[in-house]
Amino acid sequence: MDINNLLQNLREALELTPDNDKLRAHLARTLLTAGKSEEASTEFKRVLQTSPNDKPSKLGLARAFAGMQQWSAAIVILEDLYHQGPPEHEVHLLYSRVLLNEGSFGKAMDIYEELLKRWPDKPDAELDEHFRVTGQGAEDDDGFDDEEDGPPGELSARDLIVKSDTTFADVGGMQAVKDEIGLKIIQPLLHPDLYKAYGKKIGGGILLYGPPGCGKTHMARATAGEIKATFISMGIADVLDMWIGKSERNMKRIFEVARKNKPCVLFIDEIDALGANRSHMKHSAGSHVINQFLTEMDGIDADNEGLLVIGATNMPWHIDPAFRRPGRFDRTIFVPPPDVEGRTSILEILLRGKPVKDVATRDIAKKTEHFSGADLKAVIDIAVEEKLKSAMKTGIPEPLSTKDLLKAAGTHKATTREWFTTAKNYALYANESGLYDEILKYTK
Ligand SMILES: Nc1ncnc2c1ncn2[C@@H]1O[C@H](COP(=O)(O)OP(=O)(O)O)[C@@H](O)[C@H]1O
Ligand SMILES: [Mg+2]
Repeated sequence: MDINNLLQNLREALELTPDNDKLRAHLARTLLTAGKSEEASTEFKRVLQTSPNDKPSKLGLARAFAGMQQWSAAIVILEDLYHQGPPEHEVHLLYSRVLLNEGSFGKAMDIYEELLKRWPDKPDAELDEHFRVTGQGAEDDDGFDDEEDGPPGELSARDLIVKSDTTFADVGGMQAVKDEIGLKIIQPLLHPDLYKAYGKKIGGGILLYGPPGCGKTHMARATAGEIKATFISMGIADVLDMWIGKSERNMKRIFEVARKNKPCVLFIDEIDALGANRSHMKHSAGSHVINQFLTEMDGIDADNEGLLVIGATNMPWHIDPAFRRPGRFDRTIFVPPPDVEGRTSILEILLRGKPVKDVATRDIAKKTEHFSGADLKAVIDIAVEEKLKSAMKTGIPEPLSTKDLLKAAGTHKATTREWFTTAKNYALYANESGLYDEILKYTK
């Protein structure tokens, strides 16, 4: 029978017996099948008025809401179904899909992970697709031992290791950071016997925090170049954007590759993403990765000697204090915007190899308070563009002058100010154990 005829018949029958909930629920389900979500929702709601605990109708209503893309309404019902009664494949599946549509990626992943655990033989193609690693390995011509490359789809040494040819000479200012890195890894590598004699470890963890663009990433890379160490830069997306359940495995894998390639600088950018304060990390999938990370840092099952882990963040207040326990990131260093000396040397570094004529870097540095290294880079870019424009007109390429750079600086606004506004609030109201005293000192 044609579905419209069927619906017509059901409606007629219901007119005769309007209190027949079974029939009404049947009509509602048929409406869903016919794609008429709105009408289905009306019927389901009527059934639920008289039988508020009818689970199939609740699920039906959630489906109808999902069909109308009313995600939060669907979530309210599914959350309820999920928490009461025996687990049902259909509930898990719909719940995960709706959460995904609503934008709760982490939670959706958790629910789907649970579904796969309960019903391993009933995966969902669409959700599989969503939670999968993107871009898997090509042929193996990487020059790394095959042993270092895991099975296909797993993170390989080749994907992880980046070459770094910058050194401390490319980093302006940041003396406090250079000193700390010197103590933790450079000196120990130069005098390994001495360190061993005193039972001091080579390596460890350093957490860099501060406003964006002030050289955290740049510094980590330069450290690797300085000590000719392997450099592994791990983005949180590398760990999380992959098959569910594989996140911990991948975290483990990254540390494995790092230990095999010592001395090694393992850099974790935006480490706050691991810090348990983001809503999606609060759920199980996230906390497993965090625990795995902490275990790797503790090095209980492995030797972390010769491994320097540098974490960087613009949002230190989102970092779980557990990260800062001894043996993990036991040094937390504030990376402020460069002072006038710092800016002078950053300008000199950034202008290397560019056509310049008697540029008074110190004068420019004096006029660029609050500018980050990235801001100074932007200033130079602006000045270069202007020069190029006029060279196009006149046909004569002219070198950059102090005047050009000052003019460019005048058009650029320092990007560090906003960060301090936020940071100051945290420093004033959530300054556990004086962690942010440095920020307060700086903003005075
Ligand atoms: N101290 C510095 N010395 C030299 N260049 C710097 C410095 N700080 C920032 N830069 C320049 O600015 C760019 C952005 O800095 P980055 O290290 O990415 O900042 P962060 O990681 O703190 O946000 C760098 O690639 C570099 O060119
Ligand atoms: Mg950075």
